[in-house]
Amino acid sequence: MTTAGSVALITGGTGGFGRALAAQLRERDVTVVLADLDSEPNRAAASGLGAHFVALDVTDRAANAAVVAEVEGQYGRLDAAFLNAGIAGKSRDALDVDEFLRVVEVDLFGVVYGTEAVLPALKRAGGGSIVVTASLAGLAPVATDPGYSVAKGGAVAFVRSLAPRLVGDGITMSAICPGFADTAIIDPLREEFAAVDFPVLSADEVASAMVAAWAGAEPGAAYVVQPGIGAVPYKFKGVPAARTAAGETAAVPEALIPPSLR
Ligand SMILES: NC(=O)c1ccc[n+]([C@@H]2O[C@H](COP(=O)([O-])OP(=O)(O)OC[C@H]3O[C@@H](n4cnc5c(N)ncnc54)[C@H](O)[C@@H]3O)[C@@H](O)[C@H]2O)c1
Repeated sequence: MTTAGSVALITGGTGGFGRALAAQLRERDVTVVLADLDSEPNRAAASGLGAHFVALDVTDRAANAAVVAEVEGQYGRLDAAFLNAGIAGKSRDALDVDEFLRVVEVDLFGVVYGTEAVLPALKRAGGGSIVVTASLAGLAPVATDPGYSVAKGGAVAFVRSLAPRLVGDGITMSAICPGFADTAIIDPLREEFAAVDFPVLSADEVASAMVAAWAGAEPGAAYVVQPGIGAVPYKFKGVPAARTAAGETAAVPEALIPPSLR
């Protein structure tokens, strides 16, 4: 596929992954809109990358729609949405419910609201791509940050559930699940990583996986990105199917299958 001339929106766009991705997209002549919390440094970061900045708190459902309207108003179309904004929990308590809810609000509901907002625009553009930044934490438990694991696991489940229904509209939805990467989000852990020489990804490696997902993801795939292995699709095991009284695999009731997939 050719990305030149396309318009891409990146939420959490002025963070580590967002900036690395914006730089790679600008090299491909993509028009880039960085959506992030409003601040002078964030506006300056976007301008330094030759990208447009829009202020967005992804937990504000209506604001997500307003941003997409602004992008379409300014550039006439939207071809790709990288739903990438995220925070990690900082408390090391086994369960801090206020923090749990805040992380889920940003990392999971931010993705749901973003998807709701971009879908009509992608359809109007004749199809496109949604790449969600989940995490390895969505595929494995995280004892120190259960809210993060729930939010990222929810994001993976959301992508896998929705993606098949979007194929008919020419929209490919996929998830990226990076391991630890060199951005501000790992600042609280940096010394511990350094002490045991733990390998972390560069933001550029993750951005390359995001670009690849835009260009050719399998709908519903979750790509694990880890140091030394690159981006590989995670193989889900599936769940044991129900058996009939005769011991045969039970057919799924049609009502559970969307008409477009029957
Ligand atoms: N760096 C890692 O180790 C790692 C690994 C796996 C997944 N991730 C995920 O990658 C994504 C990007 O993180 P990063 O590593 O670039 O970290 P980062 O902290 O550099 O960037 C996160 C960005 O999200 C923005 N953001 C936070 N809350 C927001 C909100 N409510 N609305 C809009 N923007 C908001 C921040 O302002 C920041 O620019 C996140 O979803 C994160 O969970 C990171």
